[in-house]
Amino acid sequence: MRVLSGIQPSGALHLGNYFGAMKQHLELQHEHECFYFIANLHSLTTIQDADRLRRLTVDVALDYLALGLDPHKVRFFRQSDIPEVTELAWILSTVTGKGLLERAHSFKDKTAKGLPVSMGLFCYPLLMAADILIYRSHLVPVGKDQVQHIEMTQDMAAYFNTTYREVFIRPEPRLNEAPVAPGVDGQKMSKSYGNTIEIFGDPNEMKKKITSIKTDSTPVEAPKNPETCNVFALLKLLAPPEEMTEWERRYRAGGTGYGAAKQRLAELYEQTFGPYREQRAAWAVRPDDVEDILRDGARRARSVAQEVMADVRAACGIVHAKE
Ligand code: ADP
Ligand code: TRP
Repeated sequence: MRVLSGIQPSGALHLGNYFGAMKQHLELQHEHECFYFIANLHSLTTIQDADRLRRLTVDVALDYLALGLDPHKVRFFRQSDIPEVTELAWILSTVTGKGLLERAHSFKDKTAKGLPVSMGLFCYPLLMAADILIYRSHLVPVGKDQVQHIEMTQDMAAYFNTTYREVFIRPEPRLNEAPVAPGVDGQKMSKSYGNTIEIFGDPNEMKKKITSIKTDSTPVEAPKNPETCNVFALLKLLAPPEEMTEWERRYRAGGTGYGAAKQRLAELYEQTFGPYREQRAAWAVRPDDVEDILRDGARRARSVAQEVMADVRAACGIVHAKE
């Protein structure tokens, strides 16, 4: 099975990214042929500062390598190192109705907020579909907010296949058990909402953020509802199931304050991610090795992309000059 996913270098990666997407990516590398990339072209829709984009791109690479991505097993690369993807995005745009893109939630949300909408933001799902289809990927592990983009990819594959001939296969999304992690304010944790707990944040700062997680004003002695509590939702991601049964009992019984749950969450956060900090620091002082990994990943991914693009061009009658 071929597995593919991308993550944008648009800010420091956080627990939502980890539990929604990266954890699955790291697990799947042992069982399948995996293609994971840093979606730097997509990030241009939000990051328009060259130094910052370069820095954030390296940060994503360091985070994955520190957490155990094995570059021998995975083709790990930068999106922009596969130029065929932007060619395919154009071709897909010619078989896709404008209405499909207008229905995208992320586009509609941004328009509703009155944010300026660039053509890049509008066409975002076309580039994402090209990312997926160009490697004939079967499975796309992502968080819940990306599922609609994968359904749009399925539609675009079908439009192309019926217009020309069967070139693309139908990719399927894959979700984790906990597809949406709440941020410290209770909304979806997201780089763009400033409500994140970062995977590799400064330990003291992260502790402060955990203490600041929004809870209701139920007094310590009163029973509490675990289903609506943000601290409980995050604890569930980090604690073993037996421990969660006990937390659920304590919440419902009353007599335990949110402070105790936050303290345990801070402890589990440190236990889970603390040990990887050293690995990250070790990769950070080897920029040439990181670059070699990304270059080699791109070489191995591009050979697949070139083959599929030759098929796409032949199907639609695009002829290249012979060299
Ligand atoms: P952000 O919203 O912080 O900009 P991205 O859009 O770059 O995050 O998402 C990268 C991956 O992480 C995607 O697969 C996305 O679905 C997943 N993801 C992001 N935030 C969350 C969250 N709060 N819960 C679960 N998954 C998430
Ligand atoms: N849109 C994805 C996100 O914001 C990133 C992405 C780009 C992606 N291309 C992809 C994810 C292809 C999966 C497959 O998280």
